[in-house]
Amino acid sequence: MRKWPGIVELKEVGPRDGLQNEKQFISTDDKVVWIDMLSNTGIREIEYSSFVNPKWIPALADAKEVGKRIKRNPDVSYSALVPNIIGLENALEAGIDGASVFMSASETHNRKNINKSINETYPILKQVITEAKKERKKVTGYVSTVFDCPFEGRINPNQVMRVFDQLIANGVDDISLGDTIGSAVPSQVEMLLDEILKRFPKEKIIMHFHDTRGMAIANIMTSLQYGITRFDTSIGGLGGCPYAPGAAGNVATNDVLYLLHGLGIRTGVQDNKIQEASMFIQNKLEKKLPSRSLAYIEGTA
Ligand code: HMG
Ligand code: MG
Repeated sequence: MRKWPGIVELKEVGPRDGLQNEKQFISTDDKVVWIDMLSNTGIREIEYSSFVNPKWIPALADAKEVGKRIKRNPDVSYSALVPNIIGLENALEAGIDGASVFMSASETHNRKNINKSINETYPILKQVITEAKKERKKVTGYVSTVFDCPFEGRINPNQVMRVFDQLIANGVDDISLGDTIGSAVPSQVEMLLDEILKRFPKEKIIMHFHDTRGMAIANIMTSLQYGITRFDTSIGGLGGCPYAPGAAGNVATNDVLYLLHGLGIRTGVQDNKIQEASMFIQNKLEKKLPSRSLAYIEGTA
């Protein structure tokens, strides 16, 4: 019988990746209630918002207020997306345990998403990493479009390694590899992890799968077989990058929990509380979320 890892860590990215693409603005009051519910699910890390330019991501324009108002559970690490030093100053004022810097392996997606070339982005992120470290904050580096880019098509693992190596050299603590448009199949995951794990410990790799084509669970299984034990997931399957056309939400926390708990892997997260928090945000958004496990529990599958 295959041996699965005993424990897997999930980072809940619903309040950030989940809401960033939503047309309907969720009020600050509702965000705070919802994040407080998430804080009591047993999840150990929540990416609660983004300190980006609100003109680019209006849905998260209230990041500072949200950060100031949520009730901090001492067992939870609260992180946020930070693109530059302005974002870091705001994030520090709002309160973060960790900063997530981000860039793409694809030149075109990098420009469309953060208005800079890849080479122009390195020094900006280096400054954020250095300053965040001075404040003793953990820094995660996201690399987006690690498999496919909505503009350039297939991305060669060498392009990913170039960005990956530079982020490591600039001091990030760990790296989240983003299947931004949810297009990868397990052989692509294998090809990339074969390269990555030659250079970096598996404990410091996080996989971030969007689920556009329903492949995320298969890709998580493949990652588990490589010994990866950290995943970004989004409650109900909310999410998407507004600068990656056609991208659906992240793999649903609910569905990943069903898989992991079914395999006998511990997460510390309580399924029933995740379902409650999913229903809360689903009602606020007035639309059905894509998670299959949520639909099953609701009796609408
Ligand atoms: P820019 O316009 O090039 O910035 O934006 P700039 O430095 O030239 O400044 C222009 C104006 O923006 C100035 O204001 C700055 O003060 C302001 P003005 O003088 O014109 O009044 N500004 C800011 N305001 C608030 N907060 C800030 C900030 N920075 C500058 N932090 C920038 C560059 C990166 C800010 C912009 O392109 C941006 O906000 N992009 C965000 C895009 C985004 O959030 N995308 C989604 C997240 S990434 C993702 O989803 C992928 C991921 O999930 C992984 C995966 O799935 O692969 C992470
Ligand atoms: Mg994402």
